[in-house]
Amino acid sequence: MEKKIRRPYLFLFSVAFAFLVTDPFGLSPVGENDFRPVKNDIAPYEQVMENWHGDKKSRLSLGNLEFVNEIYGPESLEFDISGRGPYAGLADGRIVRWLGEDTGWETFALVTHNWSEKLCAKGKDSTTSKQWKVEPQCGRPLGLRFNKQSGNLYIADAYYGLLVVGPEGGVATSLATHVEGKPILFANDLDIHTNGSIFFTDTSKKYNRVNHFLIMLEGEDSGRILRYDIATRSTHVVLDGLAFPNGVQLSKDQSFLLFTETTNCRLMKLWLEGGKAGNVEVIANLPGFPDNVRANEKGEFWVAIDCCRTRSQEILIHNPWMRSIYFRLPVQMRYLARLMGMRMYTVISLFNENGEIIDVLEDKKGVVMKLVSEVREINGKLWIGTVAHNHIATLHYP
Ligand SMILES: *[C@@H]1O[C@H](CO)[C@@H](O)[C@H](O)[C@H]1NC(C)=O
Ligand SMILES: *[C@@H]1O[C@H](CO)[C@@H](O)[C@H](O)[C@H]1NC(C)=O
Repeated sequence: MEKKIRRPYLFLFSVAFAFLVTDPFGLSPVGENDFRPVKNDIAPYEQVMENWHGDKKSRLSLGNLEFVNEIYGPESLEFDISGRGPYAGLADGRIVRWLGEDTGWETFALVTHNWSEKLCAKGKDSTTSKQWKVEPQCGRPLGLRFNKQSGNLYIADAYYGLLVVGPEGGVATSLATHVEGKPILFANDLDIHTNGSIFFTDTSKKYNRVNHFLIMLEGEDSGRILRYDIATRSTHVVLDGLAFPNGVQLSKDQSFLLFTETTNCRLMKLWLEGGKAGNVEVIANLPGFPDNVRANEKGEFWVAIDCCRTRSQEILIHNPWMRSIYFRLPVQMRYLARLMGMRMYTVISLFNENGEIIDVLEDKKGVVMKLVSEVREINGKLWIGTVAHNHIATLHYP
């Protein structure tokens, strides 16, 4: 008798367990990927939060949203040598520029001849998963920088690597799609050295942009800083073994380069000149996940941060085996994230060259913006880009 009753439970339990572990319908965030969580080199949550002074006045919530639903996922913002702009890289693969109220937004450049309105232009939907299938064909320009001498625009595109387009725009010319014989999978941001070399990030050797969440969940550290030399048209590995390298910014005197490591929630410094040349230092541990870094006129650094890390996430970070079970649950990512108490809000922070905080602005309640990618300070105004929403935020500063 007893056996007969117990067995069905045992059977059901085994089926449920097998279902969770194998996820036959690919419902979990991990899906079909070879997901192998590893330990991260991240500062303890308590320690970081203790030293972090927030923004009690939530000053970022005084900002304005501009160009709402006219511009889709503008991650990187740039202004040309005549001061025109902003220029922005969009989720539909275009680089557009603002030419004032009369003309409005104009398509300035594309990263591929294959771009077509029919395939790529999904308007407001281009910041949703509807774009994911076509992104690799349409492109996703994430980092923009003008060369101040030539007026050429350099582009880091998640799928097309490093490109350049002249001051008149058009279809950009590819500069680097491979390094050491292998494709660059996820170019993310760039900066131009005064000697003509271009430093850029390749976020992962394993996952592309669509799967960027998996890079963080897995903690994998196959990301790199690369350098393209114009004279020899060659690409070199500068640093390897980074966990989601993202934004890059050279110092005013070109003696060092700052970059963010998103998974490890920190701001890093790579020395280029002097006795410490080649050394890498952690200069700031951050309360959340940093994206791009941009210098202001004074040579200080704005870092865009999606805040914050949580205590429950801390447990997952230090226990890769838990992550491998948790994120294999056949439940959508957003529910899993909510269970961990992750309610993201926007923080932007200004640092000096030693990683000391000069200022912090927050929008704790998400009044103006929820996700932030880049901050540009131009003539008393902050321009704030976001990879996932259809607007640009602005704020008078200081
Ligand atoms: C561009 O289109 C051509 C012709 O349809 C195709 O062969 C090629 O693979 C496409 N390139 C990319 C990067 O999608
Ligand atoms: C420019 O400077 C960087 C940093 O010192 C160096 O790595 C690079 O090789 C230089 N490029 C050229 C073309 O000299």
